[in-house]
Amino acid sequence: MPTVGAFPTSRQEIAGVSIAAIAQQFSTPTFVYDASIIVERIEDLKSFDLVRYAQKACSNIAILDLVRRNDVVVDAVSAGEIHRALRAGYQGGINSKGIHEIVYTADIFDKDALDLVVEHDIHVNCGSPDMIDQVGIRKPGTEITLRLNPGFGHGHSQKTNTGGQQSKHGIWHQQIEDCKQRAAQYDIAITGLHMHIGSGTDLEHLAQVCGAMEKAVCEVGNTITTISAGGGLPVPYNAKQAYVDLEKYFALWDESRKKVEVELGHSVKLEIEPGRYLAAESGSLLTEIRAIKMMGENIFYLVDAGFNNLARPIMYGSYHPISVVPSDDSPREDVDVVVGGPLCESGDIFTQEEGGFVSKRSLPQANVGEYLVLECAGAYGSVMGSNYNSKPLAAEVMIINGEAQLIRARQSYEDLMQGERLLDT
Ligand code: LLP
Repeated sequence: MPTVGAFPTSRQEIAGVSIAAIAQQFSTPTFVYDASIIVERIEDLKSFDLVRYAQKACSNIAILDLVRRNDVVVDAVSAGEIHRALRAGYQGGINSKGIHEIVYTADIFDKDALDLVVEHDIHVNCGSPDMIDQVGIRKPGTEITLRLNPGFGHGHSQKTNTGGQQSKHGIWHQQIEDCKQRAAQYDIAITGLHMHIGSGTDLEHLAQVCGAMEKAVCEVGNTITTISAGGGLPVPYNAKQAYVDLEKYFALWDESRKKVEVELGHSVKLEIEPGRYLAAESGSLLTEIRAIKMMGENIFYLVDAGFNNLARPIMYGSYHPISVVPSDDSPREDVDVVVGGPLCESGDIFTQEEGGFVSKRSLPQANVGEYLVLECAGAYGSVMGSNYNSKPLAAEVMIINGEAQLIRARQSYEDLMQGERLLDT
């Protein structure tokens, strides 16, 4: 388990590369990923038989390629994510090691997704009973996984809790018999079970899933060869938060796996499906301070990135560490500031709490033209970006072996209007 690092409010480098140099070369706002952190986080999870990256957290194809080269397979929640996985070198079907490199996990099929699943023989993790019929008609005799909602859930926000009766995710745990009957109609074997109770949860809640999984495996029976613990592992976004004790977490799941192996009389693979854990800490959003102003007693640092680039604060009141990149050695006192973006909307504030309440952050005195880094922005950062206010999507850069390389060009103004057309008059 990694130790919770310091969250400095002033820095000059990311992975040994000068932040100012990155900003000058690639401009701002730009997401910067430190590849070595992703690789370290993958290593942390190596006791599990298989790490399946929930690419929704950060799906740039260079990131997918990096995790693929480190023996991590991938989850896809849409046709677009299947295309990304294929582009990054993953294959459909079962590979020579008997592994489904891509699994489609969702609560519905849209037409494109169903077509792609059939065309590329992608394994499906069904989150709704109707999906069993839909895939069964197109691929009778196939194998599937069921994503079960165990009846409880937990996340860092109510919006990221994926269990219980109020959640739309997964198949209700009491509907297993119905699913078995549906599967039998199409000669489908249920070979996997999966539970994901929420994102950014804790060990206490994660641990409860093991018992629910054991019960569900017994109900499905001996076709099961894989169980998945889902994702949800938290990362510390500030010094008060902590990592989950991974050894303990693995031990709990391993014990459950062994119990079900005895029950079924054959070996069972144990998968984990992290998104945030692999990507969050590797990514920073690099911005430039474009204005500093007083509003009564409040000091605002206004930067060139907004919730069009990093939506987590406005969506969940999420806290992201922030640091300033001083451009000289002059002594800087700390001041309490509000950090906001350029968008024409009052909620475009990075220092806010859930409910939209603006809060202040103690940061070093800074000047217009200096850079500011929003940290721990690798997961659910770039992927949740939008073109709101006609802002082009940010560039993305990966630092690997001490070198910063572009992995996504900043959108151009032409890209911004792509597909739009003026009507003939
Ligand atoms: N597996 C499934 C089926 C999921 O729905 C998710 C996340 C994951 C794995 C990965 O969860 P993680 O390990 O990243 O916690 N936008 C929110 C998070 C939404 C998570 C959606 N599902 C945020 O910024 O916190």
